[in-house]
Amino acid sequence: MEMLLKNPYRRLEHISGLREFYTIASDLINEQRWPEPLATPTPQVLQIGTAGYLTSETFVTFVHEKNRQARVYISDLSEKPLADCRTHGLEQSNVMIMQADTTHFQFPPNFFDLIETDALLQFLPPAEKQQAIKEWFRVLKPGGVATTRDWFIPNRSTPGELEAYEKRRHIVKEQFGVLPEKTTTEEIFHLLKTAGFSLTVKQDSSLEPGKFFLHIAARKPEK
Ligand SMILES: C[S@@+](CC[C@H](N)C(=O)[O-])C[C@H]1O[C@@H](n2cnc3c(N)ncnc32)[C@H](O)[C@@H]1O
Repeated sequence: MEMLLKNPYRRLEHISGLREFYTIASDLINEQRWPEPLATPTPQVLQIGTAGYLTSETFVTFVHEKNRQARVYISDLSEKPLADCRTHGLEQSNVMIMQADTTHFQFPPNFFDLIETDALLQFLPPAEKQQAIKEWFRVLKPGGVATTRDWFIPNRSTPGELEAYEKRRHIVKEQFGVLPEKTTTEEIFHLLKTAGFSLTVKQDSSLEPGKFFLHIAARKPEK
């Protein structure tokens, strides 16, 4: 992944792809007429699973274009991408960089207005996925939103769809060095709903196999 991003064209592609993802997430929130999580005076924002400075820099820029007062916490399980973020000067007075496991956060309850994590859930084994989602719910403020996206396979899929999904899992492994867990759409919806979230979802038809790529915004109810 890091090698690919040394190529300037791949870097631009990465940045514009992520910006498109964040814009879709923001549109999903607006379509539901949920209050904009970044519209509070000093929103608390958490990015989980940075993977590298380019991803976090793109996210921090996107957030600060919407609200310069937002306090952004960049987190990852692994120290290496966090060190990369520090080396590239991402740490500032309102940008904190910290090692954290999304299944067991040290953050207090009701702390964040927005959680963003891209391509993380599909890598977690089932029990960790459930624990991570519970943690997101716990640390979000009432009315706070978690935005994410991944490849998921519906339970009732044709053999051709399953084959395409398996191919995609291996492409993702080449990109990130880890084979994603086979994760069904139904499983992910169930986990989010039983944690207490309200959901809105968009299938992405611009990516192949498009029907498996889902953008999700999950809101913790006000009460
Ligand atoms: C596939 S990468 C995310 C890709 C990234 N969104 C990008 O644009 O390049 C997944 C990241 O999640 C991190 N991660 C894996 N398990 C985690 C956990 N339990 N808690 C926090 N981060 C985790 C990995 O270290 C990795 O940096």
